[in-house]
Amino acid sequence: ARYPVICIDGPSGAGKGTVTWRLAQVLGYQLLDSGALYRIVGLKAFEAGLITADASHLIDESAVLALTKSLEIAFLPNNDSGRVDIIVNGQAVGDQVRNETVGGYASQIAVFPTVRQALLTLQQDMATRSGLVADGRDMGTVVFPDADVKVYLTASAEARAERRVTQLVNAGQAADFDSILATIKERDDRDENRSTAPSKPAADALLLDSSMLDADAVYEQVKRHCQDKG
Ligand code: C5P
Repeated sequence: ARYPVICIDGPSGAGKGTVTWRLAQVLGYQLLDSGALYRIVGLKAFEAGLITADASHLIDESAVLALTKSLEIAFLPNNDSGRVDIIVNGQAVGDQVRNETVGGYASQIAVFPTVRQALLTLQQDMATRSGLVADGRDMGTVVFPDADVKVYLTASAEARAERRVTQLVNAGQAADFDSILATIKERDDRDENRSTAPSKPAADALLLDSSMLDADAVYEQVKRHCQDKG
């Protein structure tokens, strides 16, 4: 049997995570947080000394590939946090991967075709057991080109930086708009301009700009699009 697949692609901070979670809950589908895969590999590569925070030195792709293959990664939905918990080699990885620093590590190793290839089957297998909502950059273009529904959710870099500042301030942390904006633009640039699986809308994706929309409005528009697609 073939199960339905919904792809939500786009840059970080556009609201993909929230809409993906809500759709998965309402439809009873599994959730694929593909960014978490790249974040785990990025963090492990950093810990192993294979990459640097400032992306300054040439990375040994085959070493990152070997590291990737040594990881067994699984996801468990967590209703308290509204995200999936990530289990790596049997151990839960906490929220330490969900920050901008690790997002930067992820985008450094995400440029490697062999590393992306090594993560492909794991992602595609998730659609063989139940319906799936997949969140990422290349869900609609590379991983699930035959998906039933594809959405590319964007927002201006300024709107995304503003949201990030609000999140940090609400968490009682310091936040500098200009440096956050610069980091966001740097990561967008790397993700959109790499030669393998760049972040871009699939030809048949609905383009949605959330700059002026709140999470409820985004959810309603995506839900309506899913209904249109039957
Ligand atoms: O979505 P998230 O911010 O968690 O993704 C972290 C990084 O992982 C992205 O900036 C991108 O470099 C990489 N990524 C990717 N392909 C995906 C998901 C994430 O290259 N499908």
